[in-house]
Amino acid sequence: MCGIMGYAGNQSALPILLSGLQRLEYRGYDSAGVVLQTADGLACIKESGALGELRKLLDGHAPEGRCGLGHTRWATHGIPSRENAHPHLSCHGEVAVIHNGVIENYDSLKRELLGKGHRFVSQTDSEVLAHLLEDAYAGDPVAAVRAVLSRIKGYFAFGILFQAQPDTLIGVRFNNPLVVGLGEGANYLASDIPAILPYTRRVLFLEEREIVVVRPESVVVTDFAGAPRTRAPYQVTWDLAEASKEGFPHFMLKEIMEQPRAVRATFSGHVSPEGHNLSFADLALSAERLAGFTRVLLLACGTSWHAALTAKYGLEELAGLPTDVQIASEFRYGDTPVGASTLAIAISQSGETSDTLAALRMARERGGTVLAVTNIVGSSLAREADAVLYTRAGLEVGVAATKTYTTQLALLTLFALHLGRVRGTLPEDRLVQLLDQVRGVPDRMEQVLSQTAAAVGECAERYRTGYNFMFIGRRYNYPNAFEGALKLKEISYIHAEGYCAGEMKHGPLALVNNVPTVAIAVQGRTYDKMRSNIEVIHARGGVLILLVTEGDTSLDAFGRFVIPLPAVDEILSPLLTILPLQLLAYQVAVRNGKNVDQPRNLAKSVTVE
Ligand code: M6R
Repeated sequence: MCGIMGYAGNQSALPILLSGLQRLEYRGYDSAGVVLQTADGLACIKESGALGELRKLLDGHAPEGRCGLGHTRWATHGIPSRENAHPHLSCHGEVAVIHNGVIENYDSLKRELLGKGHRFVSQTDSEVLAHLLEDAYAGDPVAAVRAVLSRIKGYFAFGILFQAQPDTLIGVRFNNPLVVGLGEGANYLASDIPAILPYTRRVLFLEEREIVVVRPESVVVTDFAGAPRTRAPYQVTWDLAEASKEGFPHFMLKEIMEQPRAVRATFSGHVSPEGHNLSFADLALSAERLAGFTRVLLLACGTSWHAALTAKYGLEELAGLPTDVQIASEFRYGDTPVGASTLAIAISQSGETSDTLAALRMARERGGTVLAVTNIVGSSLAREADAVLYTRAGLEVGVAATKTYTTQLALLTLFALHLGRVRGTLPEDRLVQLLDQVRGVPDRMEQVLSQTAAAVGECAERYRTGYNFMFIGRRYNYPNAFEGALKLKEISYIHAEGYCAGEMKHGPLALVNNVPTVAIAVQGRTYDKMRSNIEVIHARGGVLILLVTEGDTSLDAFGRFVIPLPAVDEILSPLLTILPLQLLAYQVAVRNGKNVDQPRNLAKSVTVE
């Protein structure tokens, strides 16, 4: 949340800062700004709106300097406006700060600073930092930073410039990500790797409670107390080509269409192309350890929570492990016992979601072993967990999670198979049968994407002006009802509810007369129950859009639109049923002229509570 970009080197900083911010816009796009060290002091220019607005302002008025910071904002304190955009300057314009996170005690600090005569120009929590630094500075910028850190509460990553320290950026990490890019005659600071990838592949991940001083020829990391910290740089192996739309009108559509490849890549790390080998050889939890757990606790937020809800069914059916699913932001303030025989699985595509990280730490403090499931190598979640499993979705830029979701579903299904095998709860013939189907899933996904697009388009055209939508499913597919609703509301701003179909009679049935209901009615243990739920809605005049298994024509009479999907085992069916729902949300949003990749009020990576 909020993108940070910094440069100290021998070239003009502004184009580098702006190009980095462009690749960080998915973290926030309410407003943007830059500050440069120039011959005349710190030059700060900022504007509300997306980065394009800042570019317009800079056109013909670009400050020149070789060291600077840039920021793209996702507002927490203070409306999106030019005043509230970062960077923030101290009263005398000699200290500039950019901030990702929240300063929780900013109110009392601000009152104290106002009492001392400081003048504030924004409503943000972040501005206090600039004034505190101005007060604390006595010739040593790092000493001033340390003094200020002892006074602030919250979670943050900062970038700081002092006018008196040419060619020097200071970065601070506390519960919000910050990476340092190591170049030739230039070094970089950023909240995420894509920002700096055109310039360098060698990065240092800052750890919690670290301060970095970045100069063109040196990078020095210390902890908050001043003790040196060293580590080997990490070499980035993935490619920035993934951050281009490659001819698609939106990242979201590109990412939807990439899912067969992403799921194939995720499977390929674990399933042999032929035969029936399922391997988790790289997992830092042995088969013996896995066999010893008596309970699983799944922790996640948003779409990753939906993946967790689906995974519960597989873990209980295949591995016989009682599985509890908790939203990370609730778990962290609850009292759920964990204990040594609990395997806590924290799921987060970004690996930086603040609530999920906090839940991971709490699960560990309560005695559990923590396994991370993430898409980002080197993310905070990956580094803090006892063991990691990576999805192989590649970089996802669209704010609405698509390919990271299906790769989570894919990976968690394989992991349930693995657990079932090591615990002896999964018969060999069932394992073989499922692995046979697993290998065919990416092809089935391609088929769904190409065969359902037209029907989904018609459906989107018909209902794009609606105010409400209902999504229902059961068992393995009820979380996809939640996910279908989330996709629609986040990018089209149409109110949508996901419901377990069996729950409709306990209240939501009162709504169906006026609302189109998307029902996931593919073959599985609850097919007959689902059919009854559909009939009940139909009998009350509800409009139904049905996802059914190919060859099943028995529901045709009930559906205004009936979308057939290839037959697969119910365990694997969520990997197919979600695809038309993603396409539906996309098609509705595009038809309504919405910004699908950057929906209002949202950001890709949620690093605030
Ligand atoms: O990076 P994470 O998987 O932890 O993110 C969790 C949620 O913020 C995320 O899934 C969010 O709900 C998406 N915008 C959904 O499309």
